[in-house]
Amino acid sequence: MSSAASPDQVGGQTPTPFKPRIFSGIQPSGGLTLGNYLGALKRFVEKQDEGIETIYCMVDMHAITTWQDPVKLRQQTREGAAAFIAAGIDPKRSILFNQSQVGAHAELGWIFNCVARMGWMSRMTQWKDKTAGKNAEAESLGLFAYPSLMAADILLYHATMVPVGEDQKQHLELCRDIAIKFNHDYKVDFFPVVEPLIEGVATRVMSLRDGTKKMSKSDPSDQSRINLTDDADTIAAKIRKAKTDSLPLPETAAELKDRPEARNLVNIYAALAGHSLDQVIRDFAGAQFGTFKPALADLAVAKLSPITHEMNRLMADPGEIDRILGDGADRADAIARPILDQVYDITGMIRSRPG
Ligand code: AMP
Ligand code: TRP
Repeated sequence: MSSAASPDQVGGQTPTPFKPRIFSGIQPSGGLTLGNYLGALKRFVEKQDEGIETIYCMVDMHAITTWQDPVKLRQQTREGAAAFIAAGIDPKRSILFNQSQVGAHAELGWIFNCVARMGWMSRMTQWKDKTAGKNAEAESLGLFAYPSLMAADILLYHATMVPVGEDQKQHLELCRDIAIKFNHDYKVDFFPVVEPLIEGVATRVMSLRDGTKKMSKSDPSDQSRINLTDDADTIAAKIRKAKTDSLPLPETAAELKDRPEARNLVNIYAALAGHSLDQVIRDFAGAQFGTFKPALADLAVAKLSPITHEMNRLMADPGEIDRILGDGADRADAIARPILDQVYDITGMIRSRPG
């Protein structure tokens, strides 16, 4: 099996650390939210700017695990790509592409469907949440196998670090389990054990209407989220109407513990300003929401408006976005294909056609 061992390993015995490489993805199943920006995009840009190799993907194959209108899917994929670039992703320094253009994702996803166990999938809280109160039998097989394709996205590049929001933690643990089981079943040290990067104050931005629920692009209430396409007036109005309690802001961050809505707004402020929670609390200790909310609205508009503006500019030329995604897909494929070829070799598939 040594012919199939990773070039990053010495003698197939003691794995040397894999080259640091970051992979992350966002689903184009709706418009992006402030949660995606703070929990994902903003941190993706920081990682790129630290000089680590970064690969970012609009995961359209994941999006169709629940039915998507084809016209909207295409629009949302371009809009997501525009959001990446507007937020600071440089498509020359990072690889930016959409998943379906690199067939190796689906190919490795299938192999992982044969490695992962049904029981692992049925224990995923996101699967349970998405099927809660519904007939799980009527959901797509793709939705059930979703985490297996996600593991393929990551391991196809031998990525070592994956920046995500808190909600993806369990999926990344499963990705580690798949890598370990594959390595064990085929007696190789081929796939790295991936590290989740869940960092900062905004790993879980909550709904503006309910501080116990995640802010989500799929929430039926548009008032629950700030969309990256919202204009300044809409952002300000949504923050003004955000649910809060009637107390002033406390003197210490610890006192926010049982005040989910207040804590969420303070967290959002801290993440947007690049301040610690303690610093925001010091600055606003004793303030009423009548004072805090306008300050938060001004900050949100100041940070998000340039991004929205740049997204709109980019969206005026969809051909250019498609060109960027195509170029990214070529570069992604050049990394993925040799790794997938080794997987085929390890698993005993005959590959006799040239090229
Ligand atoms: P999704 O929109 O589900 O494709 O998520 C894309 C990325 O954004 C993932 O890394 C998520 O963890 C992150 N994300 C989505 N919603 C939130 C949120 N409300 N707070 C923090 N991160 C989020
Ligand atoms: N499941 C992720 C989400 O909904 C999206 C995703 C798909 C992803 N593939 C990935 C994230 C690979 C990180 C790495 O948020």
